Amino acid sequence: METVVSGIRPTGNLHLGNYFGAIKNFLKMQDEYKCLFFIADWHSLTTHPHPDNLQKSVRTILAEYLACGLDPDKAPIYVQSDVKETLELYLFLNMNAYLGELERTTTFKEKARKQPNNVNAGLLTYPTLMAADILIHRANKVPVGKDQEQNMEMARKFARRFNTIYGCDFFPEPASFSGSAEPIKIPGLDGSGKMGKSEGNAIYLIDEPEVIRKKVMKAVTDSGPTEPNSEKPEVIQNLFALLKVVSSQDVYEFFDEKYNSCEIRYGDLKKQLAEDIIGFTAPIRERIKEISSDAAYLERVAKTGAEKARESADATMREVRRLIGFR
Ligand code: TYM
Repeated sequence: METVVSGIRPTGNLHLGNYFGAIKNFLKMQDEYKCLFFIADWHSLTTHPHPDNLQKSVRTILAEYLACGLDPDKAPIYVQSDVKETLELYLFLNMNAYLGELERTTTFKEKARKQPNNVNAGLLTYPTLMAADILIHRANKVPVGKDQEQNMEMARKFARRFNTIYGCDFFPEPASFSGSAEPIKIPGLDGSGKMGKSEGNAIYLIDEPEVIRKKVMKAVTDSGPTEPNSEKPEVIQNLFALLKVVSSQDVYEFFDEKYNSCEIRYGDLKKQLAEDIIGFTAPIRERIKEISSDAAYLERVAKTGAEKARESADATMREVRRLIGFR
């Protein structure tokens, strides 16, 4: 049976980008594949979070995963730092990861530009750690959004390289999974590209209805089309991209037709979009509140998840050590 792995950094609450980029597909996959889902707490250390916040953030994401419907009985949920075997694989992979290729990744270049006083080696080797997360379970499929494509390309490269160096066919090349031909990118509502925590443009699953309404009503638009059937500029496409994931087909088509006939009223579209986002997030928000208060349950999930993940990681590492020559 094919294996599926994915993770999210605990650097805030989950937003619609995380949900539609990764979690939604994971939910579909947990019935059909051997799935593992984790919280990438080591990856979050690149920005030096305060020690008091680390555990709290991990717990928050764990509760939010569960509220979204991840089922720990089908797919173990674990915390990355509970599976120390990953670090050993990270070290081995780093021996065959080259400075040039790591420096060339766009995420590294972007981060280095954004935080010039903290261009640390963890940031540089971020893709190697991510590859280790995936390869430690010899995963075949990884549900991730479009922004992770280059990291996935690196993971495939490191898998191929390991197989070539040690003359084996041990690691499968992990494929990104988006449930469709196109990788998923959920846009922000400020016209600035993707929805993200650090972009400050995210709609969170935990947001109260009033907050969602405010965020959506503030979304950037233009003065409207003047020619029938004209192409939508990016800021308008962004609104439609969100309608596509949270609203019904009828609603989407209604506003699409209005746009094409130059009769669109963005205020109406935004009101509908806000209500549809609220309809989608409200039950999740309720469950987040319930689950967050059950500390014993959260602990149990993470403990069981860690045990199952370590079993799988241990099996991989025994073979990796043997292949490398530790006999
Ligand atoms: P992170 O924490 O930035 O994001 C978690 C997941 O959410 C997806 N995502 C989006 N998808 C579509 N549109 C958006 N606007 C959007 N914003 C976020 C991301 O693509 C991702 O799937 N490096 C990873 C964490 C990680 C990981 C791994 C993932 C570490 N090791 C191994 C998979 C496998 C990250 O920073 O994701």
